[in-house]
Amino acid sequence: MRDPKIGEILVQPDDLKQRVRDLGQQVSDAYADRDLLLVGVLKGAVFFLADLMRAIDIPVEVDFMAVASYGSATDSSGVVRILKDLDTPIEGRHVLIVEDIVDSGLTLQYLMRNLGARNPASLDVCALLTKPDRRKVELPIRFVGFEIPDRFAIGYGLDHAERYRNLPYVAALVE
Ligand code: IMP
Ligand code: MG
Repeated sequence: MRDPKIGEILVQPDDLKQRVRDLGQQVSDAYADRDLLLVGVLKGAVFFLADLMRAIDIPVEVDFMAVASYGSATDSSGVVRILKDLDTPIEGRHVLIVEDIVDSGLTLQYLMRNLGARNPASLDVCALLTKPDRRKVELPIRFVGFEIPDRFAIGYGLDHAERYRNLPYVAALVE
């Protein structure tokens, strides 16, 4: 896809593939003999989740949430609204939230509190990308794909105004 807004490539397709395979193995080892539920955060995490789930070789189920974070186009406020909730209760289950990217951490902080209040057996996070320089709240992220610099990222699920999710790599947006 040619587009002047697609800038420097931050993560190449082969590196995504390799890392997702590694994460799938780590998750499989960590949750062997457990009742694992992946909770994908729509829409950005869908692409990562679909690949991650196929790299997991233990029994696993999937559910989705959709949230909207109030704020500007590039900064979330931490005030989050649930647009779509889980289909099933998670009490007593081992829940792994799958996120595309953790930026300020405010959205994830809200999700952890909200899902934590439903008494899961465990609650952890697997994020493909994190921007440590932007973090406003400290959160324990158990599984991380890549740390990236403070750039607005697009591709492999990440959008800018709903475009670019289909790029097979992660690139910086030219702003
Ligand atoms: P946070 O609440 O600031 O951590 O932002 C979380 C959400 O904002 C992510 O789940 C993404 O949907 C979106 N987001 C944050 N940074 C980026 C980015 O660089 N590119 C695309 N979306 C982003
Ligand atoms: Mg998201």
